[in-house]
Amino acid sequence: MQACPSCGRENPPDARFCNACATPLADAAAALPEERKIVTVFFVDLVGFTARAERLDPEDVRAIQAPYFAQVREAIESFGGTVEKYIGDAVMAVFGAPVAHGDDPERAVRAALAIAGSAGELELRLAVNTGEALVSVAASPAHSEGLVSGDVVNTAARLQTAAPVNGVLVGEETYRATRTTIEYEEVEPIVAKGKQAPVRAWRALRALAAPGERAAGRVPMVGRSSELAALTGIWDRVVSERRPQLVTLFGPGGIGKTRLSAEFADVVAARGGRVIRGRSLPYGEMTPYGSFAAQVKQLVGMFDTDATEVACAKLERAVEAALRAGDARDVAAHLAMLIGVGREGAASDRQTLFYSARRYVEGLASEQPTMLVFEDIHVAASSLLDLLEMLASRVRDVPLLLLTQARPELLSSRPAWGGGLPAYSTVQLEPLAEPEARELAERLFETAGVEARRIGELAETAEGNPLFVEELVASLAEGRSEQGELPTSIRNIVAARIDALPGEEREALLDAAVFGKVFWSGGLRAGAETLDTLEGRDLIRRDPVSRLGGQQQFAFKHQLIREVAYATLPRARRRERHESIALFLEEAVSEVGDVVPALAHHWHEAGDDPRAAKYYVAAGDQANRGWAKEQAAQYYQQALAGIPEDDLELRREIAKRYAVAAQASRHLPEMLAGRGGPRSVENRPE
Ligand SMILES: Nc1ncnc2c1ncn2[C@@H]1O[C@H](COP(=O)(O)OP(=O)(O)OP(=O)(O)O)[C@@H](O)[C@H]1O
Ligand SMILES: [Mg+2]
Repeated sequence: MQACPSCGRENPPDARFCNACATPLADAAAALPEERKIVTVFFVDLVGFTARAERLDPEDVRAIQAPYFAQVREAIESFGGTVEKYIGDAVMAVFGAPVAHGDDPERAVRAALAIAGSAGELELRLAVNTGEALVSVAASPAHSEGLVSGDVVNTAARLQTAAPVNGVLVGEETYRATRTTIEYEEVEPIVAKGKQAPVRAWRALRALAAPGERAAGRVPMVGRSSELAALTGIWDRVVSERRPQLVTLFGPGGIGKTRLSAEFADVVAARGGRVIRGRSLPYGEMTPYGSFAAQVKQLVGMFDTDATEVACAKLERAVEAALRAGDARDVAAHLAMLIGVGREGAASDRQTLFYSARRYVEGLASEQPTMLVFEDIHVAASSLLDLLEMLASRVRDVPLLLLTQARPELLSSRPAWGGGLPAYSTVQLEPLAEPEARELAERLFETAGVEARRIGELAETAEGNPLFVEELVASLAEGRSEQGELPTSIRNIVAARIDALPGEEREALLDAAVFGKVFWSGGLRAGAETLDTLEGRDLIRRDPVSRLGGQQQFAFKHQLIREVAYATLPRARRRERHESIALFLEEAVSEVGDVVPALAHHWHEAGDDPRAAKYYVAAGDQANRGWAKEQAAQYYQQALAGIPEDDLELRREIAKRYAVAAQASRHLPEMLAGRGGPRSVENRPE
């Protein structure tokens, strides 16, 4: 027996492809017998019964015990884990191998809490521990060939024996990765056999946020009730009339678009909707359909670290499930082109690709009312905006809400945004009113455990911008700006905060800024502890999902913090860091390549133009296949700047590709077929 490295399904020993997802088996097994991976190990043991059960007849006890294994297995699998083995009454499971989800520690703790919560008459002890392990890729868990081994497993077992009845103990790494979503209480360190130092441990008490969600801010949302009510009204109509809507939240940076969307997402989820988020990153950090690609990848469980065949197989399976129709293969192939997976095939026009995107989205929404959230579309490529307008105008008869967020500058680059769509509305976010800003400041001081000061002045300076309020409070709470005038711009105050950070944290933050808004712990020199502290200061946040399997993904709390940090870096160091990040990404990702434009960007900034040119060409080809002609032309142009003068042949070839793409991009607007219907516009910004 061998387990599929992609989906975990058991296959006969002589199978060459997985019976479930068609991933090649023999090759994967031969090439990768063992891998080092960050995994999360889960243990549960049945230690006894409650007093009532002890008085029961042995047969009744058996009847209570029998469903235990089935329930445990079901809970583990429903959170994406794999049962590795049974040892007496104990069950060991692994999260993060063979399939990594990016938030495996959280999944494991949630599974443990769920099992502990439904223990009933049983008395269980549970533990979760995260760390590096050797993973045998081709191992078959059902046949006890052993999927993972390493100290992380032994420590998990020790924690489990030390856990209180129906309690969950976790080790340090698990705690770090999940402490913003799970409430913990630190317990006495565990003295374990064969360990010199006692093992630190925490008891998991409860989950603080719904799965996949993250507590967005540190204090409850202030105000915004009418905006939230308006959005909720739109959602209810979308569901009851099965009529898709495009909504844009407009407002300047820091005003609370992301926050309001997160609160609204909770409402949607509570009403049975599915919410999928994707953020757009500034030009160069992402592929042309970046945030849509990110959503598709989340939906199908694909990582940028996946090999192309694995990625395509995942996509095909998911599309088949959503469409339940014969042409799922074609739709999957088109989606692959659109989101930049693989290099094969080409579509004759953009409509074909967009039509497939529409089919998939319709399939999703017909399964379950769906909201797709697109952050920061003011930095998105025009190709994504075109896709969004097409979806909004063409998707029919399914409950689908496309929620977009934009700063007002979107309307300068795209004045006609949303124009002519049958179902488009906007919500304009205004500054918080003075009493609300004061309330926010007071609550923030309270959470920081610091006495509130200069509230009136602070609220006035911040001009109702919640981000500004947060930064001012942080600055005062950290003991700066005690006297004198308060800084008058967010930029100044952020710069002052960064400068005052202790050396190691400051270095880490500056290093991370070179990555961009999103970064991965593996690409930094800083340790987990430093990142923790930065997260504690609310400068960065852990992302609930990661584009790179097995790597914790972080994001700057706000783009502005990233920008200020980057601006602080001396040029020589920037170059050096861009180079090491490019090397990290080259190492970390497969050819799947959402990071191709990022690689081009980092090599360019590192001063290695010939190397950047290679990636610009690849990014151009990728954009070209997805019919993002304008972006393709831009990438080819950038490639030309880096190709050596004497490489005439290559220059000629790329110049040709540039000309063709540029020509096509001028014709694209005409090809976007007209859309009809009346226009319903609410609160459209002037
Ligand atoms: N109504 C509110 N109550 C409490 N905190 C808020 C509120 N609105 C925003 N915040 C907080 O202010 C900060 C900035 O808000 P947010 O990130 O939502 O701004 P944004 O409009 O998305 O900015 P950008 O355009 O830069 O993305 C966040 O930390 C957020 O949690
Ligand atoms: Mg935002």
